[in-house]
Amino acid sequence: MRIVVLTGAGVSAESGLATFRDADGLWEGHDPITVATPEAFDADPDLVQRFYDERRAVLGRVQPNAAHVALARLEAELGKNLYLVTQNIDDLHERGGSSRVHHMHGRLRAAWCTACGGRHEWTDTLVERPPCPSCEASALRPDVVWFGEVPYDMDAIDQALWACDLFVSIGTSGLVYPAAAFVHYAIGNGKRTLELNLAASDGTSDFHESRRGPATELVPAWVDEVLAAR
Ligand code: APR
Repeated sequence: MRIVVLTGAGVSAESGLATFRDADGLWEGHDPITVATPEAFDADPDLVQRFYDERRAVLGRVQPNAAHVALARLEAELGKNLYLVTQNIDDLHERGGSSRVHHMHGRLRAAWCTACGGRHEWTDTLVERPPCPSCEASALRPDVVWFGEVPYDMDAIDQALWACDLFVSIGTSGLVYPAAAFVHYAIGNGKRTLELNLAASDGTSDFHESRRGPATELVPAWVDEVLAAR
């Protein structure tokens, strides 16, 4: 069985990372237009850099949870028959043991040089304009896909959705495109679809099946089910 799993902020919520649109979500305290667009970066780069520097610092204080670990277990069993794509910019899937994680919205622990195009692993801050390790220009920005920018790996994601037997969505509100369209694409290609989410999402009625509960309970139980059925 070939499976595509899409994850969102909900899979990292129980690790202590705020989601975006829940009661205590990131977008409650910040207007996304002022911190997550190229225009915002042009208008006030310090504000944007500080926003992502703070989030990068928080990453050092959290750990992967049972949902991340269960998906790594599934990868170990299914190998290339599991395609894991995440909207998350945290590295908790990798720290949970997954080795093939497609970050369609980029990564917090990476910096992108807008002068030479180089990308660099980055765990420190960027607000003080450190030089690019390749070209020395002070032109580093977070390697994160902002609103209005094109997500990464879209061709490979489309290919995986076309080739899969099952599409599973975990911990996402289904409000942000193109990820919110994956269920429609999968159904349009005759695939089985399953949602694992704490609350109903914008796309719940589109899924063949939708289960309610915290990811740390739903995901390990679902992985056990898949592996038991092999
Ligand atoms: N277990 C499972 N699901 C959860 C949990 C949990 N413990 N906690 C919250 N959720 C669910 C919520 O019910 C909600 O449907 O996770 C979802 C989180 O939704 P959002 O905050 O909108 O996050 P996400 O869908 O990942 O956002 C998509 O929007 O802001 C942009 O680029 C950003 O990648 C992000 C994109």
